[in-house]
Amino acid sequence: MAISHDHSATEPSLDEKTSLLSGQDFWSTKSAERTGIFSLVLSDGPHGVRRQRQNADNLGLYDSEPATCFPPAVALASSWDPELVERVGEALGREARALGVDVLLGPGVNIKRSPLCGRNFEYFSEDPLLSGVLGSAHVVGVQSQGVGTSVKHFAANNQETDRMRISADVDERTLREIYFPAFERIVTQARPATVMCSYNKINGTYASESHWLLTQVLREEWGFDGLVVSDWGAVGDRVAALLAGTDLEMPGTSRGTDAEVAAAVKSGELDEAVVDTAVARLRDVAGRVHADARPPAVDFEAHHRLAREAAADCLVLLKNENRTLPLAPVSRVAVIGEFAAALRFQGGGSSHVNATQVDSAVDELRALLPDARFDFAQGYDTTGRSDAALLREEAVTLAAQADTAVLVVGLREADESEGFDREHLLLPTEQIELIRAVADAAPQTAVVLLNGGVVSLENWHDEVDAVIEAWLPGQGGAGAIADVLTGRVNPSGRLAETIPLRLQDAPCYLNFPGEQGHVRYGEGVMVGYRYYETAGVAVHYPFGHGLNYTTFDQTGFHVMADGPDTATVGVTVTNTGDRYGKNLVQIYVTAPQRPVSSPARELRGFAKVALAPGESTTVEIALDRRAFAYWDIDRDDWTVAPGRYQVHLADNAHDVVATADLDLPGDKLVQPLTLDSPIRDWFGHPVAGSALTSAMLAGLTEEEAAAAAQGNADALRLLSSMPMRQFLGFLPGQLPHELLEELMEMSTASPGPIDG
Ligand code: BGC
Repeated sequence: MAISHDHSATEPSLDEKTSLLSGQDFWSTKSAERTGIFSLVLSDGPHGVRRQRQNADNLGLYDSEPATCFPPAVALASSWDPELVERVGEALGREARALGVDVLLGPGVNIKRSPLCGRNFEYFSEDPLLSGVLGSAHVVGVQSQGVGTSVKHFAANNQETDRMRISADVDERTLREIYFPAFERIVTQARPATVMCSYNKINGTYASESHWLLTQVLREEWGFDGLVVSDWGAVGDRVAALLAGTDLEMPGTSRGTDAEVAAAVKSGELDEAVVDTAVARLRDVAGRVHADARPPAVDFEAHHRLAREAAADCLVLLKNENRTLPLAPVSRVAVIGEFAAALRFQGGGSSHVNATQVDSAVDELRALLPDARFDFAQGYDTTGRSDAALLREEAVTLAAQADTAVLVVGLREADESEGFDREHLLLPTEQIELIRAVADAAPQTAVVLLNGGVVSLENWHDEVDAVIEAWLPGQGGAGAIADVLTGRVNPSGRLAETIPLRLQDAPCYLNFPGEQGHVRYGEGVMVGYRYYETAGVAVHYPFGHGLNYTTFDQTGFHVMADGPDTATVGVTVTNTGDRYGKNLVQIYVTAPQRPVSSPARELRGFAKVALAPGESTTVEIALDRRAFAYWDIDRDDWTVAPGRYQVHLADNAHDVVATADLDLPGDKLVQPLTLDSPIRDWFGHPVAGSALTSAMLAGLTEEEAAAAAQGNADALRLLSSMPMRQFLGFLPGQLPHELLEELMEMSTASPGPIDG
């Protein structure tokens, strides 16, 4: 029986296709159900569902359905725990489905280049490995519930200043080693439904219009098979964007870009196949993620408990002298600070969630330690309407009567947000004065910080006994703070970003936020701890730092190569204290001499382990080829230099516990000699070098040869960077042309020197 295909009933027309590729409104795409394409709802993200209904005030950002505000990335990253992030992702996915959201816009995996970036609270870390591992876990968790993710903002969106126009001027090695790997890992390992291209330009080309970025790197190299969505309003030239690989323009606009695309197809400027491919991707993603008709019921109480549990594992105990923490079960505690009553727990902008429930730290403390006495004083007023001196005095009076003062301080939501960068790292002056005055009056003082970006600890840190960096802990943060203060939870968070001594110490200090439309990433790969450790610049707390209420031993550290460019690390961890706790194993690698500048050490593996008192476990961490590779701009590829690597077990980026050497044969680097190669390469070449030396010394007596060899060695140092072509001019006739030809031919097959 012949089957007839009625294409007119199934194939969308050109106009339909172009219109499918731009939003229907702020949050949804158009549908063409007869062709199997459903309308998709896309919502922020990343750490809670911001589902706005029709007529909501999109720009106001705060009018959305209630949903759980899980810890934002800044906090989650400090957990260093992909399993935890995945569980949070699953809960986010459940809520997204229940609220009719098909694609949850996140995670944000841009690197924290500057501590000032206004959106640092939405990003994980200054380190690409940590960002990538946690970002992957987020994607796997959300997508396990049939909801898509949108990994953002691709790429080099590391500041808010002028974010829609600025050109991030970054060399390729730095992009490949620092700004791309988190995206690459997520795309290759977690298969996100969508990737969101960023607003900014990269080296002069808008991300949305960069064929290199969105097609060559993302699709052809990494194999991305989902949909590229524009950031909201990132498309200036829709035809150029489609040609580059931006499939879907969001949100819907009234700029008539659909008609522009159709006209470009008709005029031949744009091949209709490009439109068809983008539509096919949209159909595929719609098929993968379209939420099912009967959304699951969400247990918001259970999600609130998860938000608290997650937050508790994110808090970083920076300092704990005189066993100030945990608080004694029977004691008198002065709890000071507006945020102790009204928690600061999330950042401003498109990620703002209408939380289902927010507790107060004072109430949670009282509930956990019923035999202790907790008195509260406001301490400061973030509206600036009250008399700061009076509030301070009340707090000091209370602190003087207590055994311990707990100050909860930090930044206001208005101080750090999407849309602008901060200008300094300081806490408000009245809070610093308050901390100092309270610390002076109380027998013991602990400070809890609530902030989305790093704050300076100078001028108050040394006056207090304990400090907890709680970041923006999400809606369960108050309970989590109480859990850690009382010891119900043993803190295990570690810094995912360095706390510098001064803003001026930051590696990009002189190149942030740029000028005249350009921001030059002059520090290259030396971002965060890579810079501080390499340049020997002191910091307040290094990347990876965090204390615990128990103690751990790490023994039997060893490394074994299991291939020319891979290895496995092993270490046994024992909980030597008297309470349950989690420890973080951190592995860093130092490269041997190679043709590019190398950071003192780079994080290449980590594992978080939970242990009961006295319990031990052996951890094995695989170091893949990438752990040893650099991006070589000459070869346009990842390259492992041969040589002796050092593998470190470390407490943090600064404090190395044990080091093991690892000899790797690496890649056989064939660097053909040409007349433009410097003579250091010619003479340093294992075969060519001796042939040239013999030619130059030919016909001399032994004595003359010895003197000439010494003279040559000195001259070669001086002239080492001179290309052979010019060098020949200084030695008329001494190096026969045929010999050079022969050596050049030979060098295309044999490895040359590693150019240090
Ligand atoms: C932000 C994105 C966000 C989008 C939708 C943009 O301004 O950069 O992160 O997902 O708005 O709210």
